[in-house]
Amino acid sequence: MYACICHGVHDQEVRECIRAGAHTEDAIGDACEAGTGCGNCRERLADMIENYFASEPAAAAA
Ligand code: FES
Repeated sequence: MYACICHGVHDQEVRECIRAGAHTEDAIGDACEAGTGCGNCRERLADMIENYFASEPAAAAA
């Protein structure tokens, strides 16, 4: 599934960016361009960041 249609970025790719340290929508945009087009997916990116920290509490403390 695409997380960002404008740049054809898959949700898996976004999750990898988040895991690698992109913890804001802007940081994800810098890492893989998701969210830097129309902006419609930015809310989805924010949800993905939230889900990442919810599923990996240890990462939030890092
Ligand atoms: S769908 Fe991601 S910027 Fe347009």
